Amino acid sequence: MQPITDPVAKDAVLADDRGHVFHSWSAQSLISPMAIAGAEGSYVYDYDGNEYLDLSSQLVNTNIGHQHPKVVAAIKEQADRLCTIAPQHANDVRGEAARLITERAPEGFTHVFFTNGGTEAVEHAVRMARLHTGRPKVLSRYRSYHGGTTLSVNLTGDPRRWPSDTGTAGVVHFFGPFLYRSEFDATTEAEECERALRHLEQTIKFEGPDTIAAVLLESIPGTAGIMVPPPGYLAGVRQICDRYGIVYIADEVMAGFGRAGEWFAFDAHGVAPDLITFAKGVNSGYVPLGGVVISSPIVETFSERVYPGGLTYSGHPLACAAAVATITTMADEGIVGHAKHIGDDILRPGLNELAGRHPVIGEVRGTGVFFALDLVKDRATKEELAPYGGTSEAMGALGAAMKAEGLFPFMNYHRLHIVPPCTISDDEAREALDRLDRALKAIDSYYEG
Ligand SMILES: Cc1ncc(COP(=O)(O)O)c(C=O)c1O
Repeated sequence: MQPITDPVAKDAVLADDRGHVFHSWSAQSLISPMAIAGAEGSYVYDYDGNEYLDLSSQLVNTNIGHQHPKVVAAIKEQADRLCTIAPQHANDVRGEAARLITERAPEGFTHVFFTNGGTEAVEHAVRMARLHTGRPKVLSRYRSYHGGTTLSVNLTGDPRRWPSDTGTAGVVHFFGPFLYRSEFDATTEAEECERALRHLEQTIKFEGPDTIAAVLLESIPGTAGIMVPPPGYLAGVRQICDRYGIVYIADEVMAGFGRAGEWFAFDAHGVAPDLITFAKGVNSGYVPLGGVVISSPIVETFSERVYPGGLTYSGHPLACAAAVATITTMADEGIVGHAKHIGDDILRPGLNELAGRHPVIGEVRGTGVFFALDLVKDRATKEELAPYGGTSEAMGALGAAMKAEGLFPFMNYHRLHIVPPCTISDDEAREALDRLDRALKAIDSYYEG
C-alpha cells in the first residue's frame, strides 16, 4: 500500500467514530482517535499521507504483520466455503487449528477449547481449574493484565482492576519477580527468584493450600512491563503447584505465538503448565480468536462429566482458517526464529545503545520482539516518568515525537514498549531505532538526575 491523502474520507471516518463509537478504557470526550486508512507489513497509514512503522503491533497482536497475503487468502477462501458453523459440529479448519496448536504445546496437551479472545480464555481456564480441583481461589500477580471481563479484570494486577474489583472474586494477588523494582530488596536475579518463590509459597500456606485451585501467571507479564522471569522462577512455580495440587495456568495471550521468540514464552524456561491461555498472535487478530490448551488430566476430568461452558462462536471457521494459515506460514517462513534474531541481534543491543545516550531510559528489558523501556526521572531513585496508573507531560511529548518521526508507539504509564510484528525486517528494525533515538530527544530534558 502507498501512503494516501484523503481529507474528505478522514473527516467522514472521524465524524462516525466521534459520533457513534464508544471506546474502551477511555473518557469518551477526552480522546482523539487517529483515523487509519490501512496497514501492510510493518506499516500503518493515516489519511494525511503519512506512514508509520508499527512498534505496537496494534494491541501486541499482529505478530505476522499487517495483511499477510497468505492469511488474507485463507480467510477469503474460507468465507467462500463456509463462513460459520455451530460449535457442536466437527469442522475441518477448527480441528486442524486445534491440532496445530497442540503440536506446539508441551507433551500431554491434547485438546483446545476455543474462545473469541484472551479474556474468555482466562475465564474458562479458571473455570476448568476450579472444577478440576474442587477449590475456589486463584492466585495471580500484581503487575499483570488478564482481560476486561468480570473475573479476568479481578485477576488483573494493575489499576484497571480497581473500578470493577468486586472483592469477592476469589482472587488473591502476590508479587512476582521484578529485579529492577524489587519488592524483596534483592540485588541479583538469583536472589529475586528465590525470594519471590518463597513469597509465593508463603502466600499459599497462609491462604490455605486446599482452598487454591490455580496459580495464573503471564509467562512474561506484557502490558504490565515485560518482565522476563529470572532463570528458575517458572520451574519453581511448577514445583510449588505440584506440591499443593494446584493447577498452573500459563497466560500466553500476549507472550505466545512468536512474540517472545518462542512458540510459547515458557518454552525458554523448560517448564510445562497444566493449562495455557492464548489469543492475539494465534492468528494475529485478523479474525477474533482465543482459547485454552488443555493437558490430558484436565481433559480427563470432563470425559464423563459435562464441561459447563460454551460460546456460540467457539472455533469460528473464519478465525480458525486464519489460525491455520498463520501458524503454517509462521512455521514455513521461520518467523518465530526471526523474532528471536531481531531481539538478540538488533533490538537488545540497539536499545541498550540508546540507553547509553538517553539517561531517561532506566532499564531496557525483554526478548524477541517484546521489549520495554522503563523511563525514569532519575536513575538512582528510579522515580517513574509518569505516576503508576497515570500519564505525564513527558510521556505525552514522547508519543507526539514518535508520531512525528513516523513511529506508532505502545505506551503504558511510564513505559514505552517496543513490540513490532515478528516479521519486521532487519532494516526496518534498525530504522525504527534511528527514529526512536531522535524522538527520545523530546524527553531528555525531563531527566532530573
Ligand atoms: C496476558 C493477557 N491476557 C489476557 C488478555 C485479554 O485478551 P483480550 O483483550 O483478547 O480479551 C490480554 C490482552 O491484552 C493479555 O495481554
